[in-house]
Amino acid sequence: MASTLLPCLCLLTLYLASGYGQEGKFSGPLKPMTFSIFEGQEPSQIIFQFKANSPAVSFQLTGETDDIFMIEGDGLLYYTRALDRETRAVHHLQLAALDSHGSIVEGPVPITIEVKDINDNRPMFLQSRYEGSVRQNSRPGKPFMYVNATDLDDPATPNGQLFYQIVIQLPTVNNVMYFQINNKTGAISLTQEGSQELDPVKNPSYNLVVSVKDMGGQSENSFSDTTSVDITVRENIWKAPEPVEITENSTDPHPIRITQVQWNDPGAHYSLTNKEKLPQFPFSIDQEGNIYVTRPLDREEKDSHVFFASAKDENGRLLAFPLEIHVKVIDINDNPPTCPSKMTVFEVQENEIVGSSIGFFTARDMDEANTANSILKYRLADQTPKVPSDGLFLIQEYEGKVQLGKQSLKKQDNPQYNLTVEVSDKDFKTLCFVQVNVIDINDQIPIFEVSDYGNMTLPEDAAIGSTILVIQATDADEPFTGSSKILYKIVQGDAEGRLEVTTDPQTNAGYVKIKKPLDFETEPVTSIVFQAENPEPLVPNVMYNASSFASFKLFVTDVNEVPVFPQLIFQAKVSEDAAVGTRVGNVTARDPEGLPVSYSLSGDKRGWLKIDSVTGEILSAAPLDRETESLYRVRVVATEIGGSSLSSTADFHLALTDVNDNPPRLAKDYTGLFFCHPLSSPESLIFEVTDDDQQSLWRSQFTFALGRESLQNDWEVSKINGTHARLSTKHTNFEERVYEIPILLNDKGQPPMEGTVVLSVTFCKCVEGSCFRPAGSHDGIPTVGMAVGILLTTFLVIGVILAVVFIRMKKDEGKDNIENPKSPEARPLRS
Ligand SMILES: *[C@@H]1O[C@H](CO)[C@@H](O)[C@H](O)[C@H]1NC(C)=O
Ligand SMILES: *[C@@H]1O[C@H](CO)[C@@H](O)[C@H](O)[C@H]1NC(C)=O
Ligand SMILES: *[C@@H]1O[C@H](CO)[C@@H](O)[C@H](O)[C@H]1NC(C)=O
Ligand SMILES: *[C@@H]1O[C@H](CO)[C@@H](O)[C@H](O)[C@H]1NC(C)=O
Ligand SMILES: *[C@@H]1O[C@H](CO)[C@@H](O)[C@H](O)[C@H]1NC(C)=O
Ligand SMILES: *[C@@H]1O[C@H](CO)[C@@H](O)[C@H](O)[C@H]1NC(C)=O
Ligand SMILES: *[C@@H]1O[C@H](CO)[C@@H](O)[C@H](O)[C@H]1NC(C)=O
Ligand SMILES: *[C@@H]1O[C@H](CO)[C@@H](O)[C@H](O)[C@H]1NC(C)=O
Repeated sequence: MASTLLPCLCLLTLYLASGYGQEGKFSGPLKPMTFSIFEGQEPSQIIFQFKANSPAVSFQLTGETDDIFMIEGDGLLYYTRALDRETRAVHHLQLAALDSHGSIVEGPVPITIEVKDINDNRPMFLQSRYEGSVRQNSRPGKPFMYVNATDLDDPATPNGQLFYQIVIQLPTVNNVMYFQINNKTGAISLTQEGSQELDPVKNPSYNLVVSVKDMGGQSENSFSDTTSVDITVRENIWKAPEPVEITENSTDPHPIRITQVQWNDPGAHYSLTNKEKLPQFPFSIDQEGNIYVTRPLDREEKDSHVFFASAKDENGRLLAFPLEIHVKVIDINDNPPTCPSKMTVFEVQENEIVGSSIGFFTARDMDEANTANSILKYRLADQTPKVPSDGLFLIQEYEGKVQLGKQSLKKQDNPQYNLTVEVSDKDFKTLCFVQVNVIDINDQIPIFEVSDYGNMTLPEDAAIGSTILVIQATDADEPFTGSSKILYKIVQGDAEGRLEVTTDPQTNAGYVKIKKPLDFETEPVTSIVFQAENPEPLVPNVMYNASSFASFKLFVTDVNEVPVFPQLIFQAKVSEDAAVGTRVGNVTARDPEGLPVSYSLSGDKRGWLKIDSVTGEILSAAPLDRETESLYRVRVVATEIGGSSLSSTADFHLALTDVNDNPPRLAKDYTGLFFCHPLSSPESLIFEVTDDDQQSLWRSQFTFALGRESLQNDWEVSKINGTHARLSTKHTNFEERVYEIPILLNDKGQPPMEGTVVLSVTFCKCVEGSCFRPAGSHDGIPTVGMAVGILLTTFLVIGVILAVVFIRMKKDEGKDNIENPKSPEARPLRS
């Protein structure tokens, strides 16, 4: 029998999953094992060949065999019918080995058969017809009903995984789907379009055909089922209420219910959003959706309100879009009219004709514009004084225009009237005050008190700013107005503007002051004419006449004055190589009195200049040097000859322009140059060159050469760049001494200047990189070696002294006095 079944063993390999014996995949000794077998497979399949060990000769199978699983005496385990996972998904069997007497000698051990699923069951909807309802405007994606199908196959495999789909939606307009289904859960919800467009008035019911497929809907071999879903669309009651009107300044007890919102289902949580971010939000909502105003509103503060009402589920998620609530605040007449200011001032000119407008009086009312609450009426309630009569003024009832009502006014009669205006709206009356000033017109000219202010004599050096004369005119127009203020002008005799007149605003007095220096030499006598005038123009037919003019004669006396230079600083420029006696500049001064002037210099600290005392010509008196003073400053003194010998000074600045007159030189102090002796390899050092002349310095193109040809065997100078060069040794064979190397420098200037500098290079023994020179053999700062030498010497001296003292102490043993050793004198550091 075993041989007939053998060809089938190959198939079994596909179904075996785990628990194979040591000896092989298909046979082995008795031990716990697990096998996986697909349901629905052909029967009489060999599962495994168990091998009996002596004394066992046969096997016994017990447990959930369901008469399907069998074992042959020789240990061949097989099954006889197709398995069905939906009947039993796992078979728990026990297998024991028996001896020839039928007694158990091994086991029993558990044998587990797992039945693997194949897709052998159709999905089926639990109902062939479903009914549901949805509110208009429900949130898209929020499930409002479920369809549910089952499939007996293993839900852990695709065979039991269901996929829902809406096949048909009736009616459908323009192919727009209003409903969607969750392809895993069967939850039905509205689409975005459905949420917006569903309307029970247009179409209250829809029918869907929904399919379900197993294999996750992904296989051509999946089974499917369909069901019919009827959906009723119900009206959405979550709607913004009509705008609310609230009368302002309500005295009713608050809060007052003003409107209501309601979610489609009970249990929603309501809240308001203060969209306008008011610091004190005057509305509230309760959990029935009733909205309240919590305090009296004030239209004059804010005439409308907009805010949002939201409905949320228990998790705080919005159930739908928030609703916008509009509140309009209705005006009541709760504001009296207000005056434009405490006192409104109008002016009226004398002699204006009856009916002339004096001004517009406008009060304000905060209540709603263009309603009876804010339309104002004006009435003149009083006039003070009632001189020369009452009723001098009128006011237009609605316009507020104030007019002259009876006659022209005269300031002489009364200069000021106080009016009381009563302003009224529907309910309130307010009293406001108006002042009317009668103002003068400029019909009077200023008249000088005297027409001739006589003669005055002043020295020409009279101080600037000093007042020399007070003039006075009077004006009969109203004081402190442009009609009476007086401006004084000098209309003749002061073309140079040496004088000015300022007016005292209180007294109208004119103060004549000196503005620029007087000058006897040009204007010894001046005939001055003043004019007095008003800033306001005169009324027609009135003109200034001779009484508005006054005269004055000013005599200026001569004062001996210092000579005057035309400028405070004279500047000149000359080349620094100018020959002695070269004219470098000139100065001139003039004496106002015309006396001759003599010139001299002061502050010529280098004695470079001299001045011609008669002509003011300045000459060089010595060689000049730009490198010493590039800008030479001296003072020029001009002294009048005769008179009081007054003098004045000016500065003379002489700029020296550069000439190439300096040879190049070393830029630094190159002392203490050394090379360690003996040289192990050729050495070199770098030096820098500079020049005092501007031009050479700007160009910085120096050339370098050895100063003596004989040095060429030992030394070499090579240029690095325009300012630096390198001095190198040509070999290592130098004596231990100081070498002086002359180097020829040229600045290549105009003209070229050549100079020789000497670099001192010491060849010496080195201690730790420093030059060691035997003490005393060298002038200058000691080297490290020298310092060590000094120190050793010092110790030696101390040692000698100590030795002497020690010997002396030995000698003096027994004596009481011990001499202190004297401080040893170290060698001075600088020898
Ligand atoms: C669908 O039906 C099954 C079996 O009755 C049940 O276990 C499951 O909870 C249902 N699903 C829904 C979403 O109602
Ligand atoms: C099933 O629905 C999910 C979202 O719910 C979607 O991502 C997926 O693509 C859908 N599967 C198919 C096959 O349409
Ligand atoms: C409310 O009205 C009363 C009189 O009607 C008034 O005195 C009060 O100022 C008003 N309040 C506001 C805020 O307008
Ligand atoms: C008008 O009123 C003002 C302020 O109250 C007062 O100073 C002035 O004297 C009054 N004028 C007349 C003419 O009564
Ligand atoms: C002023 O000076 C003039 C001469 O320029 C002279 O004729 C006149 O008399 C003098 N007036 C007085 C008041 O001294
Ligand atoms: C100038 O006019 C005034 C009146 O406006 C008059 O009193 C005065 O005499 C006049 N003066 C002359 C010089 O005519
Ligand atoms: C003096 O120098 C000025 C320039 O500073 C020149 O214009 C003038 O002619 C010179 N006068 C004489 C007399 O040299
Ligand atoms: C010239 O060479 C020296 C040394 O190499 C360097 O320090 C210096 O900056 C150089 N000068 C110019 C202008 O290149």
